[in-house]
Amino acid sequence: MRFPDDVPVLADGVVTLRAHTAADVEPAYRMCQDPVMQEWTTIPVPYLHEHAVNFLTEVVPAGWRANTAWAWAIEYDGNYVGTIDLRDGEGGVGEVGFAVSAEVRGNGVMTRALKLVVRYAFDGLDWKRVIWRAYVGNYASRRVAWKTGFRGLVTIPGGGRSRGVRKDEWVATIGCDDELEPKGNWWAVPRARGWRDPAAGAARIGCATSDGGLR
Ligand SMILES: CC(C)(COP(=O)(O)OP(=O)(O)OC[C@H]1O[C@@H](n2cnc3c(N)ncnc32)[C@H](O)[C@@H]1OP(=O)(O)O)[C@@H](O)C(=O)NCCC(=O)NCCS
Repeated sequence: MRFPDDVPVLADGVVTLRAHTAADVEPAYRMCQDPVMQEWTTIPVPYLHEHAVNFLTEVVPAGWRANTAWAWAIEYDGNYVGTIDLRDGEGGVGEVGFAVSAEVRGNGVMTRALKLVVRYAFDGLDWKRVIWRAYVGNYASRRVAWKTGFRGLVTIPGGGRSRGVRKDEWVATIGCDDELEPKGNWWAVPRARGWRDPAAGAARIGCATSDGGLR
């Protein structure tokens, strides 16, 4: 594929996904200074300006040209606010990764972007399955994946790598025949056996539950 000419623009009326440009370097660099972003992703720390330049002007175009990674700039309210990408895809299965700047979090931006990209993986790249991974504890990412329809969540102890350190990882997937809608309930607060219900005024014996989303 030619970059940026062949990069498809994906839009849903609120969020637009498009090819990165050199103008995205500054906001991408600023976004990557966020400690939350550094905690939950594999970006280099400290994150230098040259990292943003290299990623957006070398790595991303190379991925499109080699047909091995497909990254889009996320535009919201007319501004670059983050990046979402698909990787691998060998045998029709690949992974998704994403991040959005702290200022716009909680507005549904990433859920919209993820739905667009998952649809493109199935319809544009002919993938059969998309894999989502996050370090255990990244509930914002897990919620986005759940809202998009990722399911079958498992925890892999030590499954993730973060700058040379192993971390426990959540993994869930969505298949090309699955609906892009939540599957199963969102996280329910676990109640231990013998939990005392203050309203009932008596100890209630019940099973501990932890039926979080994505199951
Ligand atoms: C994860 C991330 C991409 C989400 O982007 P976003 O645009 O805020 O996502 P959305 O607004 O579509 O949805 C976020 C959901 O998580 C919820 N949420 C946020 N923090 C949460 C937490 N600590 N616990 C539970 N839910 C949480 C929000 O309320 C929202 O759900 P709702 O719309 O049902 O209320 C963003 O937080 C981010 O960039 N984080 C840093 C990088 C990162 O973690 N990337 C993913 C690596 S796997």
